Amino acid sequence: MNWIEEEIKALESLGLLRERKIYGGVVFCDNDYLGLSEHPEVLRAIREATFRYAAGAMASSLVSGYTSAHRQLEDELRLFKGGEDCIVFGSGYLANIGVIPALASEGDIIFSDRLNHASIIDGCRLSKARVYVFEHLSAESLRESLVKNRKSARRCLIILESLFSMDGDSPDIRQFLKLSEEFDCLLIIDEAHATGSIGKTGRGILEESGTEFRENLIIIGTLSKALGTYGAFVCASKRICSLIVNRARSYIFSTALSPIICEGAMASLRVLKSNPQMVESLKERSRNFIRMLSEINLRALGREDAPIVPIIIGNERRALEIREGLLKRGFFVQAIRYPTVPLNTARLRISISLKRNPEDERSLVRALGELLCP
Ligand SMILES: Cc1ncc(COP(=O)(O)O)c(C=O)c1O
Repeated sequence: MNWIEEEIKALESLGLLRERKIYGGVVFCDNDYLGLSEHPEVLRAIREATFRYAAGAMASSLVSGYTSAHRQLEDELRLFKGGEDCIVFGSGYLANIGVIPALASEGDIIFSDRLNHASIIDGCRLSKARVYVFEHLSAESLRESLVKNRKSARRCLIILESLFSMDGDSPDIRQFLKLSEEFDCLLIIDEAHATGSIGKTGRGILEESGTEFRENLIIIGTLSKALGTYGAFVCASKRICSLIVNRARSYIFSTALSPIICEGAMASLRVLKSNPQMVESLKERSRNFIRMLSEINLRALGREDAPIVPIIIGNERRALEIREGLLKRGFFVQAIRYPTVPLNTARLRISISLKRNPEDERSLVRALGELLCP
């Protein structure tokens, strides 16, 4: 069994070993962009739900795990995001590895953005469909691949994120919608990070681009990021949702989300819907942070109004050193490394959140200046 020790050592020497560790300092790398995980109304809804529901769902949704909390949350999400129907999943990872193989299988084809999240990549692999990777955010690269390969299969999916989790950038979604219709493909948009942060009121990329929901579209989102709780959802036409419910193995063969969490997620959504200005405040905070970085000549990847602010370091070990330097100064920013991002593109992925003190943001920029621009 020496190979186990050898593999761990190899990861360590490359700066790629991960550990479960409880870090101190002000956390600047979670996904709680709106601070809803600690909002009093969300916490109250969860406390109250404990008097009405059992702790868990105790079975999968198609056995006896489906409750009025799930139904109501699905209705609320459908109204918020669009589509004719909505399905609540256990997590975003489960949604992607369930939905993709539900809609594509052997003999079908999938066109996937080069920087799509691991859960999308795993969903594509599980589907056994042929996968063509197009250049990041490039509708031109997708078109070229569609022209070459689309005719080789009856069913076709195009998949990309609307706010990329490790790069903080977004596609021109109108071009992708157009291509999906022109080439008769389903389009899956993963809005894990866009829900609550993109669009005037946090509804995501369709709101931002002023486009309507349509028949060939599937929106996947999580409840675990800007909505501050846990779980995920899929919005689409009734027919597509029915097929997903019947085919997605991670839905059929996994215990449903706790109804208590469903109540918490519903409360998050209520807070966001009644305070839509939160989204604009978040964008302003992100713009300010990026402005402060540029004042010390630090450049971040991605949009300047997104709460994801990645600073490329490159070498994995160097990224770890900077993480340690920040910890010594009272801040926790995880070093994001391969395989989450390509080799030699290790980065500090700073997240902006309304729950944090603006003074802490200024101090973090000073600390980054000391470490990166000595
Ligand atoms: C784009 C994207 N999709 C899906 C997921 C998985 O979501 P969850 O954490 O709810 O499993 C993530 C999580 O980081 C993500 O960034």
